[in-house]
Amino acid sequence: MKLVYASRTGNVQSVVDQLNYANTLKIETGKETVNEDYILFTYNDGNGIVPPTVEEFLKNNGSHMKGLISSGNPERHPTTYHFGADIIVKEYNVPVIAKLDRKGTPEDLETIKKALK
Ligand SMILES: Cc1cc2nc3c(=O)[nH]c(=O)nc-3n(C[C@H](O)[C@H](O)[C@H](O)COP(=O)(O)O)c2cc1C
Repeated sequence: MKLVYASRTGNVQSVVDQLNYANTLKIETGKETVNEDYILFTYNDGNGIVPPTVEEFLKNNGSHMKGLISSGNPERHPTTYHFGADIIVKEYNVPVIAKLDRKGTPEDLETIKKALK
């Protein structure tokens, strides 16, 4: 299983780094392609939207996505907390493995590790 992720300000990057997972791909432009199943790890963007690069990536690669991990900020975006993730779930019908408050907790990290096994 691949771990595909998007990170703009480093929170998601930090969690991915802690997983020590070999098979990762960072979404930089949205034009990347994958030919294997993956878990998507994304942040949430302005007013509860999916980051545009992630949206573009999913248009081409959505069928290989098997689960979702979302990182949001409940202090700064309380009314749209994880709304981008909810949009992805609705459109692609994938299970949510974890919804993190920014970098998440040690328990979140364990949940993610188990799911990746
Ligand atoms: C412009 C902007 C808009 C954001 N909008 C939301 C939002 O609507 N909902 C949410 O839960 N988090 C929102 N966030 C918070 C980020 O998703 C959160 O900080 C996340 O951990 C960032 O991950 P990253 O550091 O890997 O980029 C927003 C952050 C920024 C900078």
